[in-house]
Amino acid sequence: MAEREPRRVVSGMRPTGRLHLGHFHGAIKNWIAISQKAECFYFSADWHALTSEYKDTSGIAQAQREMFADWIAAGLDPERCTLFIQSQVKQHAELFLLLGMVTPLGWLERVPTYKEQQEQLAEKDLNTYGFLGYPALQTADVALYGADAVPVGQDQVSHLELAREIVRKFNHTFGKGEKPILVEPHAYLTEVPKILGTDGRKMSKSYGNAIELGEDPESARKKIMAAVTDPARKRRNDPGNPDICGIYYLHKAYSPSETIDLVNRECRTAGIGCVDCKKLLLQNLIPSLEKHRAARAALDREPGRIEALVQLGTQKATRVAEETMDRVRAAVKLT
Ligand code: TRP
Ligand code: SF4
Repeated sequence: MAEREPRRVVSGMRPTGRLHLGHFHGAIKNWIAISQKAECFYFSADWHALTSEYKDTSGIAQAQREMFADWIAAGLDPERCTLFIQSQVKQHAELFLLLGMVTPLGWLERVPTYKEQQEQLAEKDLNTYGFLGYPALQTADVALYGADAVPVGQDQVSHLELAREIVRKFNHTFGKGEKPILVEPHAYLTEVPKILGTDGRKMSKSYGNAIELGEDPESARKKIMAAVTDPARKRRNDPGNPDICGIYYLHKAYSPSETIDLVNRECRTAGIGCVDCKKLLLQNLIPSLEKHRAARAALDREPGRIEALVQLGTQKATRVAEETMDRVRAAVKLT
């Protein structure tokens, strides 16, 4: 997809603990690439986590620490990016409240993920004001930093469309026609490879099908060897279709092109069996897991390092957010 180059970028991730391969290839890898060319703010969306997890908040702090450590171990450079915690920058809540004043209920109710998640996560109580307001909070998250681009997956595009509309309405309501008060954010969509979990569904911690970025090699080996492949390949001689197999997607992310070509060819003719195909993958995947483990271990040997980095990032984010809120409060005449 052709995109103009972003100048300032904001993105957040809910703190769910250690990262898995899907997080890396779906988001973090992009975050790292963008940080080479744009000013980046990346945060732990802990308030967002509360919109669906308010009943038990005991795991959030630890999950958040694990997440930041994995971001950095995976190569996100805290010197280049501002890393912070959403709930520590109170301006997110203040802007959320003001945006809420101009956001029609119908706009929120019409967001596709609203009904979808309520149906899919029926065991959770998502019939709350907080859950409905999720996209307005997300709008505040990005508008506070004047971000022109938000790297998100396809599933978040409707949230970003709504964010633009909310910002536009806010600017119309309180602006004086000169420079807009808040910047309209755009989704920054980049090619992301598909990463499937060991059961063939999308990789997700909640499905229990994930391989962590720093998974212990023995455990990774077991998971891969037990992973589902193309169900058409019941016997060794049955030809398969790599395009529907999670192992093939992992080859595309981890193996050299000769191996990818070989698997793509030999799977279709039953020239290679799934066991050998998986062993080939492990040769390329395991060194990458070990590299991550080493980076994590190095970070863990420096107690307080993550906390210090995040504190610094949170201070910087607060300064930028406060500048925006100065303008916002003046426009709304709340000075
Ligand atoms: N909603 C995002 C998710 O669940 C997380 C998020 C919260 C976010 N605020 C954001 C992403 C702002 C980008 C920008 O993945
Ligand atoms: Fe999947 Fe490889 Fe088996 Fe083909 S040979 S079905 S790509 S594991």
